[in-house]
Amino acid sequence: MIRSAIVTVMEQAARKAGRTLVRDFGEVENLQVSLKGPANFVSAADRRAEDILHAELSKARKDFSFLMEERGEVAGKDSSNVWVVDPLDGTTNFLHGIPLFAISIAHVKDGEPQAGLVYNPVTDELFVAERGKGAFLHNRRLRVAARKTLADCVVTCGIPHRGRGDLAQFRRELTVVQEQVAGVRRTGAAALDLAWVAAGRFDAFWERNLSPWDMAAGMVLIREAGGYVTDADGGDNILDTGSIVAGNEDIQRSLLALLKAA
Ligand code: IPD
Ligand code: CA
Ligand code: CA
Repeated sequence: MIRSAIVTVMEQAARKAGRTLVRDFGEVENLQVSLKGPANFVSAADRRAEDILHAELSKARKDFSFLMEERGEVAGKDSSNVWVVDPLDGTTNFLHGIPLFAISIAHVKDGEPQAGLVYNPVTDELFVAERGKGAFLHNRRLRVAARKTLADCVVTCGIPHRGRGDLAQFRRELTVVQEQVAGVRRTGAAALDLAWVAAGRFDAFWERNLSPWDMAAGMVLIREAGGYVTDADGGDNILDTGSIVAGNEDIQRSLLALLKAA
């Protein structure tokens, strides 16, 4: 893949922040045995990664605005170009020493994601896509899986926890989905779920109550890998509603129909 200037900027920022996350992750593994646990340390690691991403991305594009999980909205001179960033997606995994987490960076222009990067610094897998230019894992072009029937599919999802989200609705959805598919998974990192759908590892993904920084990068990856993404009503308001349903054209349609019927 020939990387455009903006993707190169995203990649360099992600790799730099990824190095500190990996170092901190090593420390978290040690802290599991301490009584207090690693919670405060992980919040600091999260902020450290975000500081690096903010510094690197603003150095490269001085006027762009930001939407970051920890900082929130940071207005720049240019309000139409926004970096949408989750410095650590999969915090609970990170906290528990589970190596399934990622940095997610999207370039969003006038509300539309243009480029997306999802990077797991532990496995060093860097998923990147740019509108009209394809989706890649390193130099390999990504395609969503081609399966046509739900019965053959592995579907990943998010599970509401600790009073967040609508657990009753999720249970209804899970009941109908699990009766139809080959397997259901829950990784705990929505950005990685989307990247793995783009890579054809998962056939589909659905989740509600997500934030733009969980989804914006993954949306570009899925679309550029030939897949489909809508919100839970089948519309385009993914970033506003926080709901997302992703897969190839047929599976996305079938999954959406099941969820609507649940
Ligand atoms: C979370 C993860 C998780 C999803 C949650 C998100 P965080 O992000 O993506 O998979 O189910 O809703 O908030 O807190 O680890 O950045
Ligand atoms: Ca996060
Ligand atoms: Ca997140």
